Amino acid sequence: MENIRIGVIGLSGRGSGMLDELLDVKGVIVPAVCDKYEDRAQNGKKIIGEKAGYDADAYTDYKELLLRDDIDAVMISTTWITHSRIAVDAMRAGKHAAIEVGGAASLEECWQLVRTSEETGKFCMLLENCCYDRNEMALFNMIKQNLFGEIVHMEGGYQHDLRDEISLGRENRHGRLFNFQHRNGELYPTHQLGPISKALSINRGNRFLTLVSMASKSRGLNEWIKENKGEDYDLAFYPFNQGDIVTTMIKCAGGETVVLTHDCSLPRAYSRAYRIQGTKGIYMEDGNRVHLEGLTENTSEDGWMHSWEDFGKYRNKFEHPLWQKYTTEGVHGGHGGMDFLVLNAFVEAVKEGGKPPIDVYDTATWMAVTCLSEQSIAMGGHPVPIPDFTNGMWIDREPYRRGMYCLEEVCNDFFEKKGNN
Ligand SMILES: NC(=O)c1ccc[n+]([C@@H]2O[C@H](COP(=O)([O-])OP(=O)(O)OC[C@H]3O[C@@H](n4cnc5c(N)ncnc54)[C@H](O)[C@@H]3O)[C@@H](O)[C@H]2O)c1
Repeated sequence: MENIRIGVIGLSGRGSGMLDELLDVKGVIVPAVCDKYEDRAQNGKKIIGEKAGYDADAYTDYKELLLRDDIDAVMISTTWITHSRIAVDAMRAGKHAAIEVGGAASLEECWQLVRTSEETGKFCMLLENCCYDRNEMALFNMIKQNLFGEIVHMEGGYQHDLRDEISLGRENRHGRLFNFQHRNGELYPTHQLGPISKALSINRGNRFLTLVSMASKSRGLNEWIKENKGEDYDLAFYPFNQGDIVTTMIKCAGGETVVLTHDCSLPRAYSRAYRIQGTKGIYMEDGNRVHLEGLTENTSEDGWMHSWEDFGKYRNKFEHPLWQKYTTEGVHGGHGGMDFLVLNAFVEAVKEGGKPPIDVYDTATWMAVTCLSEQSIAMGGHPVPIPDFTNGMWIDREPYRRGMYCLEEVCNDFFEKKGNN
């Protein structure tokens, strides 16, 4: 397929930004856009007119967009609680679906994604851009080259001060606020769980077995609102359900442990706090440092402390070939360039007719952590089982599609063959 046609649903900050980047991906036409707010739908149409020079149709009802037979796939950038139902409807309407990141509200919605994808033969890909981040990809390359030995433990988090975005959700018509009012869980697991899952071969030889979650008290939003909106503002003393810090521990079939941290309502600098620890060494995003046995020189004065080394040297040495190519050709778009890469991965999967690097089993597994963590917290940190959405296939899966955007292995031959190094 040379040209593909993608409909875009959800056109607030994220959707309109991703639409703009999608128009830069080779061979993509966007004939229709949709947002339930008319002004946002019209803005999407305007972006296409100005950037691509053609007239797209704007809808406020996504079901009307899905009725069109000239659309191969849809990109869904709506609110967390609407992703799955729109994706299910899209697959039933014969279109592949890509959904923005977020967590599931119920296991049922995850199973619906899986069943619908299996029944329709259409894929559902979570657009987890962090899997394509430059550091994460270099680290993946290092893991595959055994620099960390056998992986034993991993950590990560979504640690982003979003107090203004959450608190002003009604004024800005933004979806996060309602979740923080009414839910209490690991609301945004996938940014680091994506790279962690790929590193641990989850759903392909390994799986998540159980999780436990705990939530701290909630103080950050009330403090911020009192200071910035005043004590008379109606949410100043609102009893937010979401704890400021939610910590989740996952046990894997392979014996590894994973710790996730959700931290969006206290003052802090951004970090996904990635940590990789194996039998030969450790990487820590905070401090951007590694200690690798046999490689890191011991410069500590008394010897017994062992030394850290800056990760920069290793990132250069073990740069993923996709990023070698990308930096040579010119890094493009938002979030340091990873957004454009995940869009290219999605478009490639549509053109190839399936097998996206993040498939419906990954999507369901990663999203399920949200509702399972809510259950665990509600039961005082009780362990809850994590379903096997592959129904046993994780021990013997059909082969994945190799290629430049593959997240199961580093396919060096694809870069060499095409002379792209
Ligand atoms: N991957 C990333 O780095 C990244 C960055 C920012 C946001 N996001 C994700 O992108 C998504 C959107 O984020 P946002 O900040 O733009 O959120 P938002 O709440 O501002 O926007 C959601 C949009 O979806 C629309 N919408 C909701 N239900 C709809 C429906 N049934 N039909 C049509 N339109 C509908 C809303 O009208 C709104 O315009 C979220 O899942 C968010 O977590 C991802």
